[in-house]
Amino acid sequence: MENLFYNIAILGANGTIGNAFLSHFSELDNVKTIYAFSRSKVSFKSAKVIPYKINYNNEEEIKASAMISSKIRKLDLVIVANGILYDNQAFPEKKISEISIDNLKKLFFVNTILPLIFAKHFLPQLSNENTSVFAFMSARIGSISDNRLGGWYSYRASKASLNMMIKNLSIEIERTNKKAVIVGLHPGTVDSPLSKPFQKNIPKNKLFSPEFSIRQLSKVIYSLKPEDSGKIYAWDCVEINP
Ligand SMILES: NC(=O)c1ccc[n+]([C@@H]2O[C@H](COP(=O)([O-])OP(=O)(O)OC[C@H]3O[C@@H](n4cnc5c(N)ncnc54)[C@H](OP(=O)(O)O)[C@@H]3O)[C@@H](O)[C@H]2O)c1
Repeated sequence: MENLFYNIAILGANGTIGNAFLSHFSELDNVKTIYAFSRSKVSFKSAKVIPYKINYNNEEEIKASAMISSKIRKLDLVIVANGILYDNQAFPEKKISEISIDNLKKLFFVNTILPLIFAKHFLPQLSNENTSVFAFMSARIGSISDNRLGGWYSYRASKASLNMMIKNLSIEIERTNKKAVIVGLHPGTVDSPLSKPFQKNIPKNKLFSPEFSIRQLSKVIYSLKPEDSGKIYAWDCVEINP
């Protein structure tokens, strides 16, 4: 039987992927409420969506967000859509000479540390009545065994660390909530600001629209079972080796 998700929290709801998840789930009948958290105001027209602006640097706000979204009903699904590859100061490193402490810190904060702090506060609020899911946006590029090209040090390492955290969390939560499934998801290459500067060598049929990717990922999410916890899945339901 497919999983049922009534109460959902999405972190990073104003990103391309976060917003596409918001749009997808808000149209499903079973879904009753979606708490949407973002650094900036979330304007989404659906009675199901409850938007909150959040300061990710304030752990008390993250804790309060977890409490707010689980006050009426425990959470059935949490999605962490946050992630960073580059910004005005940081660009993916081609070689070690391009590495900087500031860029490493920035990418590790958004891609690894923040998701772990979200887990600290949101994981205890997951339902243990039915299968509940905590999904982090990971990336195939965080797979050590899949690394053939090198480069992109900060992004690769921060996503590989995220994958380790996902495994760790799955081991710990299994002791207290046997219905919880913790996974990482790879969306494919999705047309978004994050992938924009790197799209020119991607064949047209390999560059996904956010809608296509999220339809695929939601199939993965709906099919997850407790024994899948700790794993990383791609958009096509195939597991990615660490
Ligand atoms: N696009 C792809 O091809 C691709 C491929 C593999 C994996 N992914 C992963 O998918 C996730 C979403 O990517 P996207 O394509 O939707 O990118 P995007 O459109 O650039 O969205 C960026 C996301 O990261 C958050 N974010 C950005 N800077 C942040 C910061 N300084 N502090 C905290 N949060 C920050 C945003 O949250 P707010 O809503 O709070 O602004 C938003 O959710 C990322 O984890 C990315 O690594 C994407």
